[in-house]
Order: sequence, then structure tokens, then C-alpha cells
Amino acid sequence: MTSGILGLKDVVSIKDFSRRQIEWLYEEAEKMENVFRRGSDVLRGKILATLFMEPSTRTRLSFTTAMYKLGGQVIGFESVEASSIAKGENLNDTVKTVENYCDAIVLRHWLEGAARFASEIANVPVINAGSGTEEHPTQALLDIFTIKREVGTVDGLKVAIMGDLKYGRTVKSLSYGLANFDVEIYLVSPESLRMPEDVIRYLEKKKMHVEEYNTLDEIIRKIDVLYVTRLQKERFPDAAEYEKLRGSYKVDVKTLSEAKPNMILLHPLPRLDEVDPEVDKTPHAKYFKQPFYGVLVRMAILKALLS
Ligand code: NCD
Repeated sequence: MTSGILGLKDVVSIKDFSRRQIEWLYEEAEKMENVFRRGSDVLRGKILATLFMEPSTRTRLSFTTAMYKLGGQVIGFESVEASSIAKGENLNDTVKTVENYCDAIVLRHWLEGAARFASEIANVPVINAGSGTEEHPTQALLDIFTIKREVGTVDGLKVAIMGDLKYGRTVKSLSYGLANFDVEIYLVSPESLRMPEDVIRYLEKKKMHVEEYNTLDEIIRKIDVLYVTRLQKERFPDAAEYEKLRGSYKVDVKTLSEAKPNMILLHPLPRLDEVDPEVDKTPHAKYFKQPFYGVLVRMAILKALLS
């Protein structure tokens, strides 16, 4: 029997996933809709540790819900301030301690490479819930699952990814993940927040069709999916630069009047002012459905890694 996600023991980068592994995971996630309703005890006796060293609403609560629905339990600290990290403890010592208490660790950290490092030293599976500006693989897995469920297919789509492509991590994992599919990617951002070169090079190596734009205007009519993200204020080295870019892109009902009627609008959330609340009522808006798909995908991940 293969353990993990077809042999994958950790979820550190979505680049580690093949299309087969993603599709297998989605088949498992489909089955979780019933399990979510009924509850299950497949992970009874298992403990998940959530180590969140940056703020979170969805990712932590989503993993917690997923674990409870599968009959498992969750431990964790509420904040860095409430843990020994505030006393100066390093990541190595936190991980080598916490692995004694649990069967898997979900880690969110402000540094790139943190999740990879943790996975190399831990003797339990490590799931990356956000590593600096680098990656957020489970978010991308749920984003692509949402596309599949809401559009019916991923192949053949034109996907625009708009916002802070420089400091955002969900946009990078999403781009890497989409490289397993036959999609065209349109990257839309203010000039100073363009997708980093190394990500573009990765996509080109995967023979992806990638185009870059500063505004949505030229492509809004032809895209099937619009994925919007906020400016990552906390990662800007210069507050003045953030103020300059604030409000530089925005989706409202007028923007969407030009879109295909069945174009879907996704957002990892939290939202600031880049998507007008008026948009919530349109059939395009799917960003409050993403969290539900997210629980199903995370249930599938936890079951695969822990049972
Ligand atoms: C994202 C993150 O933490 O990168 N949040 C999330 O997990 N849905 C997006 C963001 O903070 O903008």
C-alpha cells in the first residue's frame, strides 16, 4: 500500500505534486463531502499540531475543522506571543519538541524555506500553511479544486491572476499548480509588484502560455477565471510604497459587466478593497465557496497523511 499522497509524506511545495497526485487527492476530496456531513472517526486518536507564526483565520480553522470532522484532535498556540518563540526559541527546537505531542504538524511561518526545513528535521509529516512570500500549497490545491468544481474542468481555461504577485504566496503556488494543466495564465499587477522572474522561468520551463499585463482591461472579456489577491501590506519594506499602490487595482460590478457571464471570481481572502462588496451578490463571486472546498481538500490531505 502506498502511504501519504501517493508516496508524498509532507506537503511543503505544490511543485512536489504531479498531476496524478493532484487528481488522486481530488477524488479523495470528492468523497469527503459526505464524510463532512456525517462525521467520521478514521483519525480517532490522532493529533494535529497547528503552529501558526503569522495571523490566520481560514487556514487554521479549516485544518481544525477538517481534523475534527475526521475524528481527530488539534493542539496549537494562538500566537507567537503566547509561545516560547517569544522567549527566543528557534524553529528547530519548537519542531523537535512539538513532534513528540502529535502525528502531524501544520506550520505557517514568515520565512521562505521554513516548511522545507521543518519537514527535513521532523519525524512526523509537515504541512506548509504558508512560508513567507514563497508558497501556500494547500491554498492552491483548494483553489484549483474550486475551479474544477465550479467550472467543471481545469484544462482549456484562461486564468487571470491579479494583485500583489511579488509578495503574495498563494499566487505562486497557484501558478505552479496550474502548470500541471493545459491552461493559459494571464498575470496582472502593478509594474512594481510583478511575478518574480524565477516563477516565470518555472512556468516557461513547463511550457505554459504566460502573458503579463498591468491592467485587466485588455483581457477581461476572454478569461474564464479571475483570481484576485490583496496587497500584502505587512511584507512591504516601505510604508510609503504601500500607500502609493493602495487602490491601484479594483474589481467592481462595472468591471464584471465586461466579463463572460460564467467567468468565476476567486480570492484566497482576506479582502481589503480590491473586490467591491457589491460583487458578492453577482454569480461570478465564488470566494465564499472556496472555504468549503478547502475543508474537503484538507480532510483528504489529513486522511492521506495520517491514516
Ligand atoms: C493568504 C495567505 O496567508 O497567504 N491567506 C489565506 O491563507 N487564505 C492570503 C493573504 O493573506 O492575502
